[in-house]
Amino acid sequence: MDFSTLTLVVIIGCYFCHCLSTANDTITSGQFFRDPQTLISANGVFKLGFFSPQNSSFRYLGIWYLSDSNVIWVANRNQPLTINSSGLVQISVHGNLVVLDSNKRVVWSSNVTHIATNSTAKLLETGNLVLLNGVTGQSIWESFQHPSHALVPSMKFGTNKRTGEKVRITSWRSPSDPSVGYYSTTLEHPNTPEMFFWLNETKPYHRSGPWNNQIFIGSPEMSPGYLNGWSMMTDIEDETVYLSYNLPNQSYFGIMTLNPQGQIVCSWWNNEKLVQKMAMQRTVCDLYGYCGAFATCNVQSSPICSCLTGYGPKNVEEWNRKNWTSGCVRSEPLHCGEHTNASEVRKDVFLKLENMKVPDFVHRSDSLEDECKAECLENCSCVAFAYDRGIGCMVWSGDLIDIQKFSSGGVDLYIREPPSEIEKHSDTRRKKRFIIPVGVGVPIGMLILAGCLYLSWKCTDKSTGKIYSQRQGRNQKQVKLNDELPLFSFEELVNATHNFHSSNELGKGGFGSVYKGQLKEGAQIAVKRLSETSGQGLEECMNEVLVISKLQHRNLVKLLGCCIKQEENMLVYEYMPNKSLDVILFDPVKKKDLDWPKRFNIIEGISRGLLYLHRDSRLKIVHRDLKVSNILLDEELNPKISDFGMARIFGGNDMQTNTRRVVGTFGYMSPEYVFRGLVSEKLDVFSFGVLLLEIISGRKISSYFGCDQSLSLLGFAWKLWNEKDIQSLIDPEICNPNNVNDIVRCVHIGLLCLQNLAKERPSMATVVSMLNSEILNLPCPSHPAFVERQIASSAESFQQNNTAHSINNVTVTVMMQGR
Ligand SMILES: *[C@@H]1O[C@H](CO)[C@@H](O)[C@H](O)[C@H]1NC(C)=O
Ligand SMILES: *[C@@H]1O[C@H](CO)[C@@H](O)[C@H](O)[C@H]1NC(C)=O
Ligand SMILES: *[C@@H]1O[C@H](CO)[C@@H](O)[C@H](O)[C@H]1NC(C)=O
Ligand SMILES: *[C@@H]1O[C@H](CO)[C@@H](O)[C@H](O)[C@H]1NC(C)=O
Ligand SMILES: *[C@@H]1O[C@H](CO)[C@@H](O)[C@H](O)[C@H]1NC(C)=O
Ligand SMILES: *[C@@H]1O[C@H](CO)[C@@H](O)[C@H](O)[C@H]1NC(C)=O
Ligand SMILES: *[C@@H]1O[C@H](CO)[C@@H](O)[C@H](O)[C@H]1NC(C)=O
Ligand SMILES: *[C@@H]1O[C@H](CO)[C@@H](O)[C@H](O)[C@H]1NC(C)=O
Ligand SMILES: *[C@@H]1O[C@H](CO)[C@@H](O)[C@H](O)[C@H]1NC(C)=O
Ligand SMILES: *[C@@H]1O[C@H](CO)[C@@H](O)[C@H](O)[C@H]1NC(C)=O
Repeated sequence: MDFSTLTLVVIIGCYFCHCLSTANDTITSGQFFRDPQTLISANGVFKLGFFSPQNSSFRYLGIWYLSDSNVIWVANRNQPLTINSSGLVQISVHGNLVVLDSNKRVVWSSNVTHIATNSTAKLLETGNLVLLNGVTGQSIWESFQHPSHALVPSMKFGTNKRTGEKVRITSWRSPSDPSVGYYSTTLEHPNTPEMFFWLNETKPYHRSGPWNNQIFIGSPEMSPGYLNGWSMMTDIEDETVYLSYNLPNQSYFGIMTLNPQGQIVCSWWNNEKLVQKMAMQRTVCDLYGYCGAFATCNVQSSPICSCLTGYGPKNVEEWNRKNWTSGCVRSEPLHCGEHTNASEVRKDVFLKLENMKVPDFVHRSDSLEDECKAECLENCSCVAFAYDRGIGCMVWSGDLIDIQKFSSGGVDLYIREPPSEIEKHSDTRRKKRFIIPVGVGVPIGMLILAGCLYLSWKCTDKSTGKIYSQRQGRNQKQVKLNDELPLFSFEELVNATHNFHSSNELGKGGFGSVYKGQLKEGAQIAVKRLSETSGQGLEECMNEVLVISKLQHRNLVKLLGCCIKQEENMLVYEYMPNKSLDVILFDPVKKKDLDWPKRFNIIEGISRGLLYLHRDSRLKIVHRDLKVSNILLDEELNPKISDFGMARIFGGNDMQTNTRRVVGTFGYMSPEYVFRGLVSEKLDVFSFGVLLLEIISGRKISSYFGCDQSLSLLGFAWKLWNEKDIQSLIDPEICNPNNVNDIVRCVHIGLLCLQNLAKERPSMATVVSMLNSEILNLPCPSHPAFVERQIASSAESFQQNNTAHSINNVTVTVMMQGR
C-alpha cells in the first residue's frame, strides 16, 4: 500500500466515522425535521423524508430505498401536503410521531395511545421506522407492522389466529397517487395459510393456494429464482402466522409491491444495482372463481371453462354463451353409504386430476397420505381430497370453487364420483392423458421395474376402492384411478409396438431396449422393455419408484405408466420426437438447427430440472447419470432429463453419502465419486459442467485435443481459459460477435462446475442464478478435474468393447464395484 492509498483509506475511514458520530437516523422529543431534510439509516441505504410521486404536486412522508422512486412505505397517503406547505416531522408532546403542515395541523400520527414517557423514532438498517419508549427502549410502534403497499425483507406479513387481526398491503390508487387504492392482499386461513388478493377489500380476485413450506401450491410460477428465502412462521406466543422473506446476505435487497392494477411486482438489487424487476403475470383463470363452482379453468383449452366429470352446467343456455358465473352442478347423485343391493355396497370412487390448483375452503386433517382417501370416502359431505407432503391431507366439502388446471406444477386433486360416472368417462380420460405431448426416455433405470412389482403387489393386496377394474370386450384393462402410475396390459403394448418389431426400436442400453409405439387412441409412446436381471434390492427400488413417479417438472421426462407380465417388465414414457440431444448436437448437419438461443434454452432447462431434483421436489435427489444422451428434446427443443435409474434419494439432512457401487458414465463422473464413491449433489453439478462444455463446443467429452491429443475436453477448455482464448472452444456454428460474451460467461460457469474440489463447485441454485445473471460477478475458477487423457481414454476403450450394447454410439453407462 503506497502513501496515497493509505491517505485515501484514512480519509474514507474518517468520513465514515464522521457520519456515524453524527448519525441522523433518530429524532427524540423536542427535535424535528422539515422537508427537504431526511433521516438516514445507519447503513445509508434507507431514507425517511418527503417525496412527490411522478406527476404529482403533493408531498408525502415516506421511506425509500436508495432513491425516492423505490418507496417502501408512505405515512400520510390519504392526507397529502401541498407542495408549498413545508411539512414537518416531530415527536409530539404525547410521544407520537406526527407530521404537521405549515399551519401546525397534524396530518398524520402514529396514533399510539398512552405513551407515558419521552419517545424516540429511529430508522433502522432494515428500513423499519420504530418508535421507542425513551426510558425502556422498547418498541411501541413500527412501520413494518403498518405497511402500506410493499413487502420488504424481515417484514412480517401475518394474521393473528386468535384475534383475526391481519396485516394488509394496499395498492396505490395510481402511480402518481399513493392514497389507498382498489387492491389489497392479506394472509388468510392461518391453518393452511395462503395469500388472498382483494378488490375493494371485500371481493376476492385471486388466491395463491395453500403454502406447502416451499411455495404456494396454486402459484406454480413461483420459482426459486426470485422466491429464495420465503418462509412461513408461527409465533406461538401471540398465535400469529406470518410470511416473511430473508435474503441470502446483505448485498441483496428486494421489494415486493402491489401495483395499482393489483399485480405483484418484484424488484431485486445486488450491491445496490437493480438486477431484476418483474410483474407476475396473471391469466383469466387466475381470477377467483372465474368458472364458477365445480368447474375447472384451463387457459390452454377451448372453451376455457369445463365442468368437472359428473357435473353439468347449472344453466346450460348461459354456459353456452360463455357466461360461466353460475358454474356447474352434480348430474348424477353420489352413492355415499347407499346400499343398492344387500350383498354389495356400491362405493364411490375418486377421479384423479393432475397439475391442479386446489379449490378454496380447504380443511386440513391430520390423516396420513394413505388414510386421506379413506377419511374422505367415509364422510358423505366430503367431495374431494388432495395430499401434499408439505401440507398433509386436504379435504373439501360444499362447493368446489376456483379450480385451475396448470400445464405443470400444482397437485393431484381427487374428485369423488359415483362408480357409474367413471365407467362412462374412463375411456375419454385415458385418451386425454396421452394426447398431451411430451417426450421419450431412452435409457431408463431398473428401479421402475421394481415399481411395477410394487404396483402389482398393491393391485392384489388392497384392491377395494383403489383400483377400478374395467372389462372392455377383447381384453381386460386395469385402470388405476388414484395411484401414481396407470398400468398397461401386455397386449396393449404388443399391439402398440408391432410386437416389439426391430423397426420400432429407438435405442438399446444396458437395461434393455426402447421401442416407439402408438396406442389405439393415437398417442405416441416410448416403451422400455427391461431385461430380466437387476442388481438392485427390491425394497430399495420400491421406495424409489414411489418417489420418481411423483416428480413433475417441465424439464424432466414423464413416466406414463408401466406393465408387468411375469418376467416381462415394461415402462411407458412420453415420446420425444426430437430424440436425445447427442443426436442433434453431434451431427454436422442437424447441429445447424441449434443456434445459441436454443442452446442456452437447453442449458437453462437442464439447470432448472436439476435444481428441482436437488431442492424443489422436497426430496433431495441426485441423478448420478447426467449426460447428453439422457437429455431428450421435445418438438420445440426444450430439454427433458431422463433416466432416473441411477438416481439416489437423500433423507432430510444427509448431504453426502458413500456408495459401494459406483455407477455412471466415464467423463461425466466427478473425481470424488470415481475415486471415493462419494455421492452428493455436486456430482450432478460436475456432470452439468461437462454437458455445458459439450453443448458450447459441439464436441463430445470423449474427444481429444492438443497437438499430441493429450488433452481432454476439460483440459482443452482450461488451457484456452488460461490463454484467454475461449473463443477457440466455441462451436463455429454459434460463434458470432453478438453472442460471444454470453457464451464466454457460460463457459466460465461451466468451469466453476468442474472444479476439482466438490465444495468449491456452486450449488445448482447458484448456477441457475448465475445463468439468469442474478449473480453478476463470477468467482475465478480453480483447476478442473481430469484435464489429462487417461480417464477419458478408458471411456473410449470401454465403449469399443461394448459396441454391441450401444446402438446410437452414445456413451455407455458403466457399473463398477466400489472399493
Ligand atoms: C441528515 O444528514 C443528511 C446528509 O448529511 C442531510 O441531508 C439531512 O438533512 C440530515 N437530516 C437531518 C434530520 O438532520
Ligand atoms: C407523467 O406524465 C407524463 C405525461 O403526461 C406521462 O407520459 C407519464 O406516464 C406520467 N407518469 C406517471 C407515473 O404517471
Ligand atoms: C409555491 O411557491 C412558489 C414560489 O413561492 C409559487 O410560485 C407557486 O405558485 C406556489 N404553488 C402553490 C401551489 O401554491
Ligand atoms: C388516529 O386515530 C384517530 C381516532 O381514533 C383517527 O380518526 C385517525 O384516522 C387515526 N389516524 C391514523 C393515521 O391512523
Ligand atoms: C424527556 O426528555 C427531555 C429532554 O431530553 C428531558 O428534559 C425530560 O426530563 C424527559 N422526561 C422524562 C419523563 O424522561
Ligand atoms: C371499487 O371501489 C371503487 C370506489 O368505490 C369503485 O369505483 C369501483 O367500481 C369498485 N370496483 C368494484 C369492482 O366494485
Ligand atoms: C453475498 O453472497 C454472494 C454470493 O452468494 C457473495 O459473493 C458475497 O460475498 C456475499 N456477501 C456478503 C457480504 O456476505
Ligand atoms: C351471467 O349470468 C349471471 C347470473 O345469471 C348474470 O347475473 C350476469 O349478468 C350474466 N353476465 C353476462 C355478461 O351476461
Ligand atoms: C345383488 O347383486 C348380485 C350380484 O351383483 C345379484 O346376483 C343379486 O341378484 C342382487 N340382489 C338384488 C336383491 O338385487
Ligand atoms: C364430515 O365433514 C364435514 C365437513 O368437512 C365435517 O364438518 C364433519 O365433522 C365430518 N364428519 C365426520 C363424521 O367426520
